[in-house]
Amino acid sequence: MGVVLGNTGIHTGRLSLGTVKFGRNTDVKYPGTFELPTDEDIATLLHCCRELDINLLDTAPAYGTSEQRIGRLLPGRREDWVLCSKVGEQYSNGQSTYDYSRENVRESVANSLTQLKTDYLDVLLIHSDGNDLNIINNTDIIDSLQSLKQQGLVRSIGMSTKTVEGTRAAIEFSDILMVTLNIDDQSHLEVIREAESHGCGLLLKKVLASGHRSPEESLSFVLGAVENGSAVVGTINPEHLRENYLKAFNKSR
Ligand SMILES: NC(=O)c1ccc[n+]([C@@H]2O[C@H](COP(=O)([O-])OP(=O)(O)OC[C@H]3O[C@@H](n4cnc5c(N)ncnc54)[C@H](OP(=O)(O)O)[C@@H]3O)[C@@H](O)[C@H]2O)c1
Repeated sequence: MGVVLGNTGIHTGRLSLGTVKFGRNTDVKYPGTFELPTDEDIATLLHCCRELDINLLDTAPAYGTSEQRIGRLLPGRREDWVLCSKVGEQYSNGQSTYDYSRENVRESVANSLTQLKTDYLDVLLIHSDGNDLNIINNTDIIDSLQSLKQQGLVRSIGMSTKTVEGTRAAIEFSDILMVTLNIDDQSHLEVIREAESHGCGLLLKKVLASGHRSPEESLSFVLGAVENGSAVVGTINPEHLRENYLKAFNKSR
């Protein structure tokens, strides 16, 4: 049960793990409040991923201590994991700030590599502030990402978008796109087809509508709609991870 992400040659499962909740519990859109998991909780969850062949972890500098905790607690060999991080958004003291400049991209990626204790990222995505087209058209971030790829610091590049127009524009330079798809928000379906036909790999976010929809109906819908995509579902609960895996597995057979 797996997919190759577009033309990148990167293999992953139909289910991947979102790790916002590893490191941040403020200014998030989940149905209830929660305590950050302990190191032991995260270690258990990551071992559970290995058992289930879930290899892609989606993180970001904006997810609080998520990158740092993954770097410290990741079990097994680095090459058995697909690490996806982002650049452009920082979150500190309860506030997000955005910077897409060449200097910040270089610093941010260097810091992600340090936090994650690795010398390369499998996927690096632009973390959008909502103004996708402005970032694409009016900053030099695409050049910055391409140069990081040439240097071998990242294997693939792309954008985690917020708008349909932005996603359409991002197809041109992206190996991989991360887009929202769930039962309540199907606005990206058409542009997903365009991205597929251009050979972009697809990571699907907010699949459970950030926990407002059940895994049963959500995974069935999303994985049925995007046969070569991976659903990046966030959880800090191993039982939920297993449940999501079973739903994704059944859908893929
Ligand atoms: N780049 C961006 O701008 C961006 C934006 C949003 C998200 N993302 C990425 O996409 C990932 C997923 O998005 P998301 O976390 O917003 O939303 P999501 O995956 O739609 O939902 C996550 C929520 O669903 C709950 N959940 C998961 N499995 C469940 C189950 N089997 N039964 C009941 N509840 C379950 C989780 O709670 P429990 O922990 O209790 O299981 C969590 O609160 C993020 O972690 C992040 O990696 C990226």
